[in-house]
Amino acid sequence: MSRQPYYRDELVDLYHADSTNLGFLPEASVQLVVTSPPYNLGKDYGAARDDATYRSYLAWARVWCQEIERVLEPGGRLCLNIPLDINVGFDDGGKRRTSKQPVLADFTELLVRDLGFVYNTTILWLEGNVSRRTAWGSWLSASDPWVNTAAEAILVLSRGQRRRPGKGKTSDVARADFLDWTLGLWTFPGQSTAQYNHPAPFPEELPRRLIHLFSFREDLVLDPFVGTGTTCRVAKTLGRRSIGVEIEQRYCEVAAQRCRAPTPLPRGGAETA
Ligand SMILES: C[S@@+](CC[C@H](N)C(=O)[O-])C[C@H]1O[C@@H](n2cnc3c(N)ncnc32)[C@H](O)[C@@H]1O
Repeated sequence: MSRQPYYRDELVDLYHADSTNLGFLPEASVQLVVTSPPYNLGKDYGAARDDATYRSYLAWARVWCQEIERVLEPGGRLCLNIPLDINVGFDDGGKRRTSKQPVLADFTELLVRDLGFVYNTTILWLEGNVSRRTAWGSWLSASDPWVNTAAEAILVLSRGQRRRPGKGKTSDVARADFLDWTLGLWTFPGQSTAQYNHPAPFPEELPRRLIHLFSFREDLVLDPFVGTGTTCRVAKTLGRRSIGVEIEQRYCEVAAQRCRAPTPLPRGGAETA
């Protein structure tokens, strides 16, 4: 791992690094963070473990959340894609257990109550994955039925203040999109895991909406868990500078390839190389 970018072009810097230490990024240098961290569901991310006890998972989350707070400028936004809750956990030896945990509530408490972020909203993303349902708890019995909410959350917070001065900056959200997206129930499909051989990518539509809605064209966007590079790819397409950080080299390579691919310039301009 290195403090030199793994990949760099005119709009994107990708780092092969651990987001619990973003020391290579200056304080207050980022205006928007769009990210989805590992959910501690035991997925195989290569270099990153995903099977901590829930307590250690939250302790780890506190470290990278503090790093995000440090690099965000006052008024900068954090859009965090996380589940509402999870059904599995791990014991000290990494053995899988049934364990219901209120992830959204815990992240909200950590970020708003402990770290002092300003609450903006919670968007519900309906991914339409009901057919993948397998966990029923007590089938046809009132002993312990499990309600599975087929939605993920996008927790939207600000560092210090909600309002950002827009003078001299460019907003590029279309009227119809603004009307639609400011209703916080979003419905669009998830991303296949096969396309980039990654266990949990999000679809381009997710960062596309968040970047249009919550950033100016002049802003710098950060994804500290960039995986296959979706956020940076979309940011580049929308003419924003972005930084992606990923701990697994295999995914850095996928992300670099996606960012290297030609992107149409915003508002129908010529293609960039
Ligand atoms: C849920 S995935 C994000 C996927 C991404 N949104 C995409 O569309 O491809 C989480 C990513 O975080 C990476 N990761 C886990 N721990 C990390 C750490 N400490 N620092 C940087 N990246 C990490 C994993 O390797 C994985 O690719």
